[in-house]
Amino acid sequence: MSTSTVGISALGVHFPSAALPLAELGALRGVDPNKYLSGLGCHEMALCPAGTDVVTLAVEAARRALASWSGSMGDIGLIVVGTETAKDMSRPLSAWVAEELGLSGAVRSYEVKHACYGGTLALRQAVEWQLSGAARGKSALVIAADVALYAPEDSGEPTQGAGAVAMIVGTPDVAAVDVASFPFSQPAFDFWRPVGQAFPSVEGQLSLDCYKLAAASCFADYVAYEQAESTAKQTPSPAEVLNELERVCFHVPFPKMVKKAVAEVGERLGLDEATTAGFYESKVVPTMRINQRVGNCYTASLWISVASALAGMKPGTRVGAFSYGSGFGGELLTLSAGPKAAEGAWMTAAERDLNEREMLDAAAYAALRAAHLKG
Ligand code: HMG
Repeated sequence: MSTSTVGISALGVHFPSAALPLAELGALRGVDPNKYLSGLGCHEMALCPAGTDVVTLAVEAARRALASWSGSMGDIGLIVVGTETAKDMSRPLSAWVAEELGLSGAVRSYEVKHACYGGTLALRQAVEWQLSGAARGKSALVIAADVALYAPEDSGEPTQGAGAVAMIVGTPDVAAVDVASFPFSQPAFDFWRPVGQAFPSVEGQLSLDCYKLAAASCFADYVAYEQAESTAKQTPSPAEVLNELERVCFHVPFPKMVKKAVAEVGERLGLDEATTAGFYESKVVPTMRINQRVGNCYTASLWISVASALAGMKPGTRVGAFSYGSGFGGELLTLSAGPKAAEGAWMTAAERDLNEREMLDAAAYAALRAAHLKG
C-alpha cells in the first residue's frame, strides 16, 4: 500500500436548481418507467435552467471549496478544469472560471479533455505537480464540471445529468491520494462528439464492454500490485485486498453499469458470485446515493461519489476510485480519509442544492429541451 503526503485539502460540490424524475421521462417517451428506475438504476436527473451552464456550476463549486479552505487565492498556483462541455476549441474553460473568481498572475491555467476521465486526469496532474516539487508551496484548484445532454429520444437520454466538484489539492486534510495508481487505455469509438456536433454519438453496447474491460484491467493491476507489496507471511487473496477498501467508488453513467462492471471485476479476479455480490452491496451501492439523484455528470460523476463516500469517514479509512472515460481510458486511484473527512462539511451545501431543486414534469422538461435546441 502506498502512502502520500499530498491530497485533497478542501472540497466543493454543486448541482443545478432543476431536476426531472425519470418516471416523467418515461411518460413523455412512452417507455415503462421501470426500465429507467430498475433497468438502469436512475431515479432523477439534474438539469440546468436558463442562465445556468458549465461555467456557473464550476464557479460555484470552486467558491464552496475555497470558502472552506484555510488558504487564500494567492496560495493557488494551478487551476485546471476537466470537462467535456468545452465552450471553445482554444480558450480553456479554466479562463472563464478564473475570470469569475478573480484568479490571475503566477498561476498555470488549462483545461483537460478525455471524456468523463478528464477530471481524474486533472486531479492526477495536480497531485503529481505537488509530488514533483514544482508547486513550490502553492496549491492547485481542480474542477470537474459537466452538463450531460443527449439528443431528445436518444437511448442515452435517461442518463443525462449536470454537476460540478471542485478540489483544492495540497495538504491531505480531507483525503490523501496514493502515489501509485492503475491506468488502462485502448483506442475505441464507444462514445464521441465530433467538432460542431451538439450531442454525442454513442455505440451503447460497445461502451458497456469498454467500461467493463477497463474496470477489470485496472482492478487486476491493483490487486497484483498490493499482493507484490504485501509483507504478510501469506500473500493476501484478491478478496482480502479488496476488503482493505471501506468504500469503492466508480464513474456512474448509470448505476446498473457499475453493477455489471463489478461482476466483470469479480470474474477477472476469480471471486465467487456471493463474494462479488457482497462487495457490490456493502462497498459500492452506498457510494451511488447521490448519483442516482443527479444522473451522469460526466467528469464530475466519480468525484460526486467520492465526495459523498468520504463524508463521515474516520481518518485513515481507505477508498477506491475508478474513473472511466470513453475513447477509452480508465484509472483506479486509492485514497485515505484525512482529519477533515469526518465532518463532511462540503455535503451541507450539496444536500441543500438537491433538496431545494425544482422538480420538472414531462411538459416542463420538453419545453426546456426545445428552448435549449433553439439556442
Ligand atoms: P437501451 O439500449 O435503450 O437499454 O439503453 P436496454 O435495452 O439495454 O435496457 C437497459 C436495461 O433495462 C436492461 O437491463 C433491460 O433488461 C432493462 P440489463 O439486461 O442490461 O440488466 N429493462 C427493464 N427493466 C425493468 N423493467 C422494464 C425494462 N425494460 C428494459 N420494463 C444504454 C441502454 C446504456 C445503451 C443507453 O442508456 C445509452 O446509450 N447510454 C449512454 C452510454 C453509456 O452510458 N454507456 C456507459 C458506459 S460508457 C461511459 O460510462 C462513458 C460516458 O459516461 C461518456 C464519457 O466518458 O464521456 C457515457
